[in-house]
Amino acid sequence: MDKKELNQLVKKAVLSAQRVGKLPSFDIPEPIIEFPKREEHGDYTTDIAFSISGLSGTVPQVSASIIREELDDKLGDSVEVFPPGFINFKVPDKELFKSLKKILRKGKDYGRQNVKKTMVIDYSAPNIAKPFGIGHLRSTIIGQAIYNIYKFLGWKCIGDNHLGDWGTQFGKLITAIKRWGAEKKLDINELESLYVRFHAESEKDESLLKEARDWFKKLEKGDKEARRIWKICVDISKKEFDRIYKLLGVQIDQALGESFYEDKTEAVIEKAKELGIAKESQGALVIPLPGFKTPLMLLKSDGATTYETREMATIKYRQETWHPDLIVWEVGVDQKLHFQKAFKAAEILGYKGDSKFIHVAHGLIRWPDRKFSTRRGDTIRLEDVLKEAIKKAKRVSSKSAKKVGIGAVKYNDLSRHHSRDIIFDLDKMVTLEGNSGPYIQYTAVRCKSVLKKAKLKRFKVGSLNPEEQLILRTLRKFPEIVQEAGENFSPNLICNFVYSLSQKYNLFYEKHSILQGDNKEFRIALTKGVLQILENSLNLLGIEVPEEM
Ligand code: ARG
Repeated sequence: MDKKELNQLVKKAVLSAQRVGKLPSFDIPEPIIEFPKREEHGDYTTDIAFSISGLSGTVPQVSASIIREELDDKLGDSVEVFPPGFINFKVPDKELFKSLKKILRKGKDYGRQNVKKTMVIDYSAPNIAKPFGIGHLRSTIIGQAIYNIYKFLGWKCIGDNHLGDWGTQFGKLITAIKRWGAEKKLDINELESLYVRFHAESEKDESLLKEARDWFKKLEKGDKEARRIWKICVDISKKEFDRIYKLLGVQIDQALGESFYEDKTEAVIEKAKELGIAKESQGALVIPLPGFKTPLMLLKSDGATTYETREMATIKYRQETWHPDLIVWEVGVDQKLHFQKAFKAAEILGYKGDSKFIHVAHGLIRWPDRKFSTRRGDTIRLEDVLKEAIKKAKRVSSKSAKKVGIGAVKYNDLSRHHSRDIIFDLDKMVTLEGNSGPYIQYTAVRCKSVLKKAKLKRFKVGSLNPEEQLILRTLRKFPEIVQEAGENFSPNLICNFVYSLSQKYNLFYEKHSILQGDNKEFRIALTKGVLQILENSLNLLGIEVPEEM
């Protein structure tokens, strides 16, 4: 029994009710099958009777009963009408036992699918010459989770780190290095303060801005000196980023930054001219976009390309290279307009094809207070924050502080819908209570320690107590949850799921003895099933499962 199957069965039931004249004829609305909010309402529910009553003039309760009768020979006792007209479905115990066996048989592949489509996902994308800020944390973590989920569903996935390694800011940086920098001493802090200094001084002295523009133009024209300094900046930054990725346990397939498209923007501009959609505007070259106040800027009046031009070249390249069915950008909500414009322009330029484009726009990170304001200026350094998380994790786990600290940060970020803002409160993240990473990890470790004391054996299919039944009903949902999380780009659904599973297992653990009694074999198998599903889930979220805590 699953949503897809029930959808079909309900449709057929309505049709057969129409055939025998219990319902008048009308176009059957698509039955939407959902997980009920409350467990006592079963495993699935549909409110189709409400739409049908509008079409047939029968009250929902009656339509629901008619449908229920038609479902009877297929589903029997597992269907129930709930006033004022919901149809609820409950998975029978026999099927629950079967799914536990399936979980144990399939192990880490339980829930895996074989979709065979291609997705490119653009995530992380920090900017060169700045420390890896907290601002790029969400993109990195949520992007990686979406990547993992799609891969698990059988998609071919290409992760691409669209590094901010090109653009007019390099003109500023080169100017600053030339004027005040000591090349030998350059490191990420020095780069950042040079950049800050440039902004301060250019407010007093406008000629600096012109100098910067000239340097960027030189860079775009391939000037040796400009290139040399640019390369130093890129190398310093990449080393810094790699350290962070290692700490986070994140690996991204490709890092085709903006500079990669430097020789590919020309083709975009040519195409726009060829199509007759490029317009001159105050010395700049733009593509007017219907429905938007501002056009897409291809070339600025000084002849420099823009972030937008490079976005177009990126889309074109991805289409030609991977022919993806889907391209996802995991980038903050502050770039919403940028992507709306980019998607429109790609369509006009003929770069969109049949692909689906999605901007997964994450909300802001908010701070409970300004604890993390640093001496080095305004940016909050991710590395400092992660180290602090690991330090705090020692309080709840002396043995696996790193896994727990990093896991806590990731879980905090993933457990809310990406569009919502999150509060970055380390004390609340690194705790064993409530919906937190450490709580889930702790539950997995608890399962492991039970299993260390017992051997998995054949179990009897008998009767289930309410706690066991609830666990099984939750476990078997995993494939459908992953599917939904993928479709909606919502790893938070997996977090909600593991949280609810953990609560149920812990309740069971406290109420019943696992290793004693005649139901011992089944309870061990159940524990193994819970651990498997916790591991499969945490894997998708990119959170490690410690051996001990
Ligand atoms: N580097 C950009 C920033 O930090 C994000 C890039 C996102 N990806 C893209 N294809 N635009 O704002």
